[in-house]
Amino acid sequence: MDRIRIVGGNKLNGTIPISGAKNAALPLMIASLLTEETLILDNVPRLADVAQVQRILGNHGIDIMSAGKRPGDHEYQGQTLHISAANIIDTTAPYELVSTMRASFWVIAPLLARMGEAKVSLPGGCAIGTRPVDLLIMALEKLGAEIQIDGGYVIAKAPKGLIGAEIDFPKVTVSGTHVALMAATLAKGTTVITNAACEPEIVDVADCLNKMGAKITGAGTSRIVIEGVAKLHGARHTVLPDRIETGTYAMAVAMTGGDVQLAGARPELLQSALDVLTQAGATITPNNEGIRVTRNGAGIRPVTVSTAPFPGFPTDLQAQLMALMACAKGSSHITETIFENRFMHVQELARFGARIHLDGETATIEGISKLRGAPVMATDLRASVSLVIAGLAAEGETMVNRIYHLDRGFERLEEKLSACGATIERISG
Ligand code: UD1
Repeated sequence: MDRIRIVGGNKLNGTIPISGAKNAALPLMIASLLTEETLILDNVPRLADVAQVQRILGNHGIDIMSAGKRPGDHEYQGQTLHISAANIIDTTAPYELVSTMRASFWVIAPLLARMGEAKVSLPGGCAIGTRPVDLLIMALEKLGAEIQIDGGYVIAKAPKGLIGAEIDFPKVTVSGTHVALMAATLAKGTTVITNAACEPEIVDVADCLNKMGAKITGAGTSRIVIEGVAKLHGARHTVLPDRIETGTYAMAVAMTGGDVQLAGARPELLQSALDVLTQAGATITPNNEGIRVTRNGAGIRPVTVSTAPFPGFPTDLQAQLMALMACAKGSSHITETIFENRFMHVQELARFGARIHLDGETATIEGISKLRGAPVMATDLRASVSLVIAGLAAEGETMVNRIYHLDRGFERLEEKLSACGATIERISG
């Protein structure tokens, strides 16, 4: 199994290109099932999760063509996928394909909306709490689907098609909103989603669906209205930049010190995280090409932060912030409100000497002046990268084991960091 070796202590200086957002690319690819015409997606990141959705779509009989490089393409340019769901030959998404990634469950929505039936294995994914799908099922039932759970599969049927409805989510859910949105585009009549997730990736998917002929208004607010249409058509759409990758590298620079341009990043996608970084002592300068992050001289200041749905501080940056606060001058408090059990990085950060005390959903971090490199184990996607950040700032060598989680969500991580002066390499085998 591959590992990543880091020798810490170098400042980061240079430019890091920001990839397309994984959390938009996955539902956008899945949305291709809604039309028999070709959906072209640009700026799709090269990630293990994207390859997994390709496999899942392939199992439904979908053709995917990945366009080659064009003259003038930047070496980090995302890929262009031509996805054609002209013929859906199978409406079952089996356990072997769905169990490794939670978002793959979302195929249930377009399959049901277009084909009137879907049989999808209950999902797996990162081990960060129980992550049920009850609200996704609730949304589909509201739209008129008959749902049974049998042998670990959710079996959904709507032989006469879905019917527009009011869907009021009792808690904000990104997955629930994606599923409701996709299913409602082909339902008869109007659907109103209230307490909808406002995440930028929801807006990106809604924009793409509108290009495909859907009638969606209000995406990006907590009330989304969808007028169902009989058919969707092909379209071309560019995946928005990854705000979690942006925030992760911004935190890495805040931790090591230095001066890095995050090329292609969009500040409005992660303002709350940028505000926290400013509070912590980094200098954040949005410019025409992206966001410049610097920290020179002054130490890291402690912060008190709670994760929250967008536009709040993202749970997907919680572990990275904790790594940063491990070296702050004083005590920080980080409260996780979205997922239970999303503190698996705490015991791994402790191997670097970090002083973290957990009390329910709140971690108190007593900053120390220097972390020391250590062998550590990646546990989930975002936790893994917090260990990389800690390793970059720590004295001596760090070996991050079980890095397949990193490959699910961070494109060419070690290349991007070593181009900015980090000593980081992948060791195969
Ligand atoms: C998505 C993101 C993930 C991010 C999360 C929160 C993708 C591929 N993943 O995950 O990176 O951390 O949003 O921003 O976009 N819940 C239920 N019942 C349900 C569905 C969700 O109780 O049916 C709960 C979850 O357990 C969790 C909360 O709602 O506590 C939020 O989950 P949700 O927003 O749906 O997260 P995901 O879409 O899985």
